[in-house]
Amino acid sequence: MSSSPTPPSTPAAESLVPAAHAEPVAVAVPAGAAEPAAPASAPASERSAGRPAARPAKFPDGPAPDPAGSREEHRIRTFHARRGRVTDAQAGALERHWAEWGVELDGSPLDLGKLFGDPSLPIVLEIGFGMGDATARMAADDPATGILAVDVHTPGQGNLLNLADQYGLTNVRVANGDAIVLLRDMLPPESLSGLRIYFPDPWPKAKHHKRRMIQPEFLALVAPLLRPGATLHCATDWEPYAEQMLEVLSGSRDFTNQYGDGYAPRPDFRPMTKFERQGLAKDHIVHDLLFTRR
Ligand SMILES: C[S@@+](CC[C@H](N)C(=O)[O-])C[C@H]1O[C@@H](n2cnc3c(N)ncnc32)[C@H](O)[C@@H]1O
Repeated sequence: MSSSPTPPSTPAAESLVPAAHAEPVAVAVPAGAAEPAAPASAPASERSAGRPAARPAKFPDGPAPDPAGSREEHRIRTFHARRGRVTDAQAGALERHWAEWGVELDGSPLDLGKLFGDPSLPIVLEIGFGMGDATARMAADDPATGILAVDVHTPGQGNLLNLADQYGLTNVRVANGDAIVLLRDMLPPESLSGLRIYFPDPWPKAKHHKRRMIQPEFLALVAPLLRPGATLHCATDWEPYAEQMLEVLSGSRDFTNQYGDGYAPRPDFRPMTKFERQGLAKDHIVHDLLFTRR
């Protein structure tokens, strides 16, 4: 497939990673509440005025819709708004475990040591875990590493919590919301020992390339949060996106390619994911990229 150029930079008013706002953009929304219609800085009375009617709280103690009020921000989203049916097993897991293992990406600083109950545990962030099968397997294979797994997809959050329960995992936490909010507002510098992004939405149409996650501005956001020596691992079955990833990562002064100037061989430690299986069924070639934070 033909090479895909590095996406053009997006206008400040609507970018993947907007500059820190003068006004706080983080709005803590209680579980089950409607999305906020006014900025967090507005008095509570104004904030409730003009709100859309509250969605019925399906999981009263579960993940909140739009925890950071990101609809307010005019930020380009890297994910599809997909609902998906939540099975009884997933709903049960959300209700049983969200309070203990769930994290709302509401923009407030996150203490990872406290979250995992062990300040010495190395933490790897996975963005876009989908249904979480690979996440749970990797967490089970490496109990000495904490996995902070982020997605916006409620059925997947329920599935991963269910798997964590079934496997008896204590090293997985499930975050709900836009990963950009986590990276931009919530994590301290050098708090991550790794970052995994497996089969991110490829956004194949040219007009949607600005929604792709792996872009220079994303790397600039991520680099300070990774410890020197941390591994950034990406995988995709969409060749033009793989080419873009390689170009953008190779062009960053903050990262070194672990495999010269090319793709990595498929590592044994990465389990097959649902989207990888779908890509292989369509005869797509899967590429892994393994880079080290300088
Ligand atoms: C194509 S799926 C891949 C899922 C999984 N990694 C796999 O390989 O099966 C991409 C996932 O990334 C999630 N995602 C995309 N952008 C995100 C963001 N900014 N914050 C959190 N999740 C995001 C989507 O909701 C979706 O579940």
